[in-house]
Amino acid sequence: DLGVYRHYMQKEIHEQPRAVSDTIEGVIDGGVDVDGLFGAGAMEAFKDLSGALILASGTSYYAGLVARYWIESLAQLPCNVELGHEYRYRDSIPDHRQLVVTISQSGETLDTMEALKRAKELGHGRTLSICNVRESAIPRASKFVFYTRAGAEIGVASTKAFTTQLVSLFTLALAIAKSRGRLSAQAEHDALEQLRFVPGSIQHALNLEPQVQAWAERFALRDHALFLGRGMHYPVALEGALKLKEISYIHAEAYPAGELKHGPLALVDENMPVVVIAPNDQLLEKVKSNMQEVRARGGELYVFADLDSHFTESEGVHVIRTPRYSGILSPIVHTIPVQLLAYHTALKRGTDVDKPRNLAKSVTVE
Ligand code: M6R
Repeated sequence: DLGVYRHYMQKEIHEQPRAVSDTIEGVIDGGVDVDGLFGAGAMEAFKDLSGALILASGTSYYAGLVARYWIESLAQLPCNVELGHEYRYRDSIPDHRQLVVTISQSGETLDTMEALKRAKELGHGRTLSICNVRESAIPRASKFVFYTRAGAEIGVASTKAFTTQLVSLFTLALAIAKSRGRLSAQAEHDALEQLRFVPGSIQHALNLEPQVQAWAERFALRDHALFLGRGMHYPVALEGALKLKEISYIHAEAYPAGELKHGPLALVDENMPVVVIAPNDQLLEKVKSNMQEVRARGGELYVFADLDSHFTESEGVHVIRTPRYSGILSPIVHTIPVQLLAYHTALKRGTDVDKPRNLAKSVTVE
């Protein structure tokens, strides 16, 4: 059942072009139109929204952090993202015109389910679930549902669920934008056109595996790592750090690169590898100056750039380039190399990649 792969995680990483294209199939084959994707009445319910509140845990929460950028910039709708276990125990002020979005691969995560229950108790009626498992508890308890079509995810470390959640959330941002009259037919067409390229770009990123594997040899010898990103790529840094710690047991932390000087820079020396997500977006120059701060303290830089970002390898600066800058969808493509880095580092360290210690695939207890 593993075919040519050694682990489910590796198989699931490589299934991503297929998982993503299955998930968006209905979107792009349905005549380039986002109406009707989220179920009957959804577009009507999106019309007078005052905001979105995304609730999730772990990797699904990071998908929500990326979605915030899309929902705010494409739909111009204020969006908050919160961990379910924090939300459920705090006195929040409900705004019934908000759309409550839960994201969950399994659909059974207790923290997320309880957060949804809490939102409903507080009177929230517009609830939407993005989920990978049909008829699981969270979608059953939600008014609107969108199923990702990643297929069964067996590795404890979530991979294809994350990228399929991202494409789903992107289409959600488009649907909200459209129902609010913020998306012209041309803009919708262009966005969906960009979406069509994603499976191919993921495949290109997967082809970087041998280069990432070479980096992993070095990471496997370290005890700590720092991940940096800015804007939409900060959640990718978080995801890279989570994957690495989860399966290789290397202590990894992620920061928005601008935060370095406010504390974490003190950790940087020649023993601290620093992974930087540095696509060619409007924040690239800022990221470069953060990289100089790291180099000045002797930190080794491992940079995931793209073909368009201007970088050269130099002493202590290693660069791997994803094919080309994918615009607003770039976080999806940049996720692939950080997954591969975690996988190959864990492989080198000989850990149980698919079943890391102390963790369960689906967290159904508090
Ligand atoms: O099934 P869910 O998406 O609700 O699970 C949420 C988290 O438990 C999950 O993403 C976890 O963080 C993964 N092990 C990360 O790889």
